Amino acid sequence: MTAQIIDGKAFAATVRAKVATHVARLKEENNLTPGLAVVLVGEDPASQVYVRSKGKQTIEAGMKSVEHRLDPDTTEDALLTLIKQLNDDATIHGILVQLPLPAHLDEDLVINAIDPAKDVDGFHISNVGLLGTGQKSMVPCTPLGCLMMLRDHHGSLSGLDAVVIGRSNIVGKPMAQLLLGDSCTVTIAHSRTKDLPDVVRRADIVVAAVGRPQMVPGDWIKPGATVIDVGINRIDAEGGKTRLVGDVDYESCAAVAGAITPVPGGVGPMTIACLLANTVTACCRANG
Ligand code: GUN
Repeated sequence: MTAQIIDGKAFAATVRAKVATHVARLKEENNLTPGLAVVLVGEDPASQVYVRSKGKQTIEAGMKSVEHRLDPDTTEDALLTLIKQLNDDATIHGILVQLPLPAHLDEDLVINAIDPAKDVDGFHISNVGLLGTGQKSMVPCTPLGCLMMLRDHHGSLSGLDAVVIGRSNIVGKPMAQLLLGDSCTVTIAHSRTKDLPDVVRRADIVVAAVGRPQMVPGDWIKPGATVIDVGINRIDAEGGKTRLVGDVDYESCAAVAGAITPVPGGVGPMTIACLLANTVTACCRANG
């Protein structure tokens, strides 16, 4: 079997187009412009790339984009003061603090200072609790993008066996909640899981979110399963170059799976598209 490729890049373009249409309507009918503020502390090169891309796509969708780039030695007080200002700013509907933060800043404290209604990342403890109890919340962008691709591919996910590899607060845990919400039988596997290959082999849906390049080989995949690869890892390639790979070994998994997301061009583009969608949602909820 050769897997169908789930084209996240094309799917994300359709999501962004819908967002742009919604933004235009909000402007015309309600004189509203959704606004997203992104806060970056420090100079992590990967974070800088993501933040630039978020700003560009926010503007392309017709929304207001504000970027705050702060020194690596910014104090917690200064960051909390900025977050309070953004919480109080009626033109800002979404606030995203890029993670990871420098080690001297308490991530939980900072994230929980964001107004939950503006927490477009869905990381605030209130949103985590709402998602966990199946209530209306802000949903973390990467798992939301994965869910949209899975629903698009399968229609109903009800009764499917899903294995999420990775237990991070950003991806693994919310992904498991979303799959449970769609009536999958969900297993969260991680570095201490016994017989990981056998656990993964039972899955109709595999979501790999561990941050280890090409960790999942094709012989762990049940024939016909759907593989969602959240990993974005840079590895050395021939000629002194580098290239991006996911958490699954693409070639061997694609030979067995029914469908698979590529890296790049799979989950990555969907994450930012969902961030834009969450910002529009926050704007609509804030304005009744
Ligand atoms: N760093 C890596 N992924 C994310 C994300 O989804 N949101 C934020 N705020 N930081 C990240």
